[in-house]
Amino acid sequence: MEEQKKIKKIGVLTSGGDAPGMNAAIRAVVRTGRYFDLNVIGIRKGYNGLINGEIKEMYSRDVSNVMNLGGTILHTARCPEMMTTEGLDKAAAIYKILSLDALIVIGGDGSYRGMAELAKRGVNCVGIPATIDLDMNNTEYTIGFDTAVNTGMDALNKLRDTSSSHERCSVVEVMGRDAGYIAVWCGMVGGAEDVMFPEEKDTIDSKEVIQQILANRSTGKRHNLIVVAEGVGGTQKLAKDIQEITGIQTRATILGHLQRGGSPTATDRMHASMMGYYAVKALLEGRENIVIAYNKGQYEVLDLFEALDMKKSLDKEIYDVVKILSI
Ligand code: F6P
Repeated sequence: MEEQKKIKKIGVLTSGGDAPGMNAAIRAVVRTGRYFDLNVIGIRKGYNGLINGEIKEMYSRDVSNVMNLGGTILHTARCPEMMTTEGLDKAAAIYKILSLDALIVIGGDGSYRGMAELAKRGVNCVGIPATIDLDMNNTEYTIGFDTAVNTGMDALNKLRDTSSSHERCSVVEVMGRDAGYIAVWCGMVGGAEDVMFPEEKDTIDSKEVIQQILANRSTGKRHNLIVVAEGVGGTQKLAKDIQEITGIQTRATILGHLQRGGSPTATDRMHASMMGYYAVKALLEGRENIVIAYNKGQYEVLDLFEALDMKKSLDKEIYDVVKILSI
């Protein structure tokens, strides 16, 4: 039997769009690593930092007072070089020059695809899922989602106040270019009357939304809240159309990157801490090329390539319930 390679030195980076809770995950990786006497190397600005050798050794005190911070102390980036053979070869070569035994990547789908390419070049990769969008196929939870939804809910609460005072309609655009999880959740917990999300983009009919607004007004509703996902777009136009057709004063609000920042919620800190711990533990147990996931109430260690082949889809029932509760 082949002897298991002893893990001595690991690298950690955050990649792609930042997500609240990334710092809690970095903290967990650094401290679990140090607890088990590993050298932990922090890599700055995502894969760019690996390619350019922007690294620093990290100790437990380097992650003091970061649990509560949004953003990422390691900084992050989207890295076009990782789309090229040259960039990938260079990243794998630097990993070897640094004598790393594993690379922990905290990020979303695009970052995982980068990991798969590096794994084919001999890099031992471990993924920790982090994106506010929740759109990763192999896990029911991604770090940052809960904070982003709470930020959206807070905005909806405030917009409800002013819409109600003025008896207006508010159209609110939340993040999510390709996925509607944030929109549907914000719609539910913010008590919206309708939600438009990318998965239904082709069948969305703004006339139906306008009909719903009018129907609700006729039963005594004095204000309206409509949530639109970024990937659907046309938020300003929808607000204009609603006002023109119904005569109800309508305002559009685009939350944008507001939803990517802020102090992480308890849920995000908890998942980030546990996933960071499990990432290091799995490496110490000899696992290679894996991702950490959370499914059916349990943390799981999945094979990286199998994880990338998994499928998940938005639970449309949540949307149906939003509609039922909006009458
Ligand atoms: O990280 C996910 C996300 O925030 C999406 O919701 C959004 O569409 C995208 O990133 C925006 O990316 P960028 O920050 O590069 O503009």
